[in-house]
Amino acid sequence: MATRKTVLLVTATLLTVVIIEKYILNFQSILANLPFLVNIFGQQNGNLSGSTGDLFTADSLRLYDGSEGSKGLHLAFLGRVYDVSGKGDKFYKPGEGYSFFAGRDGTRAFITGEFKEEGLKDDVDGFNLIQMGEVMDWVEFYEKDYKHVGFLQGRYYNHIGQPTKERLRIEKVFHEVRSAREAKEEERRRYPYCDVDIHEYLKKVTMACVKRRHVDDASNPAIRLPRKYFKPDVAGWRCACVETKYLTNNDLIGEIDGCDQQTRECLFTGDFTGFYN
Ligand code: HEM
Repeated sequence: MATRKTVLLVTATLLTVVIIEKYILNFQSILANLPFLVNIFGQQNGNLSGSTGDLFTADSLRLYDGSEGSKGLHLAFLGRVYDVSGKGDKFYKPGEGYSFFAGRDGTRAFITGEFKEEGLKDDVDGFNLIQMGEVMDWVEFYEKDYKHVGFLQGRYYNHIGQPTKERLRIEKVFHEVRSAREAKEEERRRYPYCDVDIHEYLKKVTMACVKRRHVDDASNPAIRLPRKYFKPDVAGWRCACVETKYLTNNDLIGEIDGCDQQTRECLFTGDFTGFYN
């Protein structure tokens, strides 16, 4: 009798453990994914506008074109959906100047300016680094100025709102854009343009580093002197105002012929071959 009781007890305990594991713990992982699940169902039931993390399809997003009786005013950029109602009414509502962006992802047209139906596409195929920089600027603009409310299922996000390979590839390109911009900024700091005054008729050029913009910090003005600057991968040279600490052991710069190398203003009368400004 006692043995039967023990067997029953052990079986009941095991069953309880299995039930907890199967239904309660799994339920927790279901709960973890709930935002998207709720949103998918919400979209189908058509009653979940505005909650963070909604998942849209191209069709469900179209219902947010801001027209009378529509569900709201949304647009997508690079697969992220923003609520542009309120501040954006004057741009995106029907009849306004940028209404064609409402209720869809028209990323490509933001760069090409092709605002007709055939141009309003979401891809960035064939864009160069400069154009990708513009795409990045628009991403930053919408993230900053409007409320992100969800994801558009398609090219950039999958059916559970996770980024696709294409979206991840673009994130990498954005990284390249940031590096290129930083390098450009660094060049601008190290090798700012001189003030160049071209007296063509005399075949003379004054190259100077005396303006306020050549001083890094008014309280601690760094002396900059005019030098030839040979930008990597660019033919020729231009004049740059170079801080004295960068004057030595630097293959990118050269002396300007005929000038006193210690003066901040120099009258160049030498060979103009390769000179650009
Ligand atoms: C590829 C071309 C262009 C695109 C994709 C574009 C896109 C946009 C968008 C999306 C907005 C609304 C921004 C917001 O939500 O606050 C906007 C605003 C505006 N755009 Fe454009 N635009 C383009 C070209 C131009 C040009 C050529 C002009 C001028 C000649 C212009 C003048 C304006 C002005 C004045 C505003 C309103 C700015 C404000 O009130 O804050 N846009 N543009």
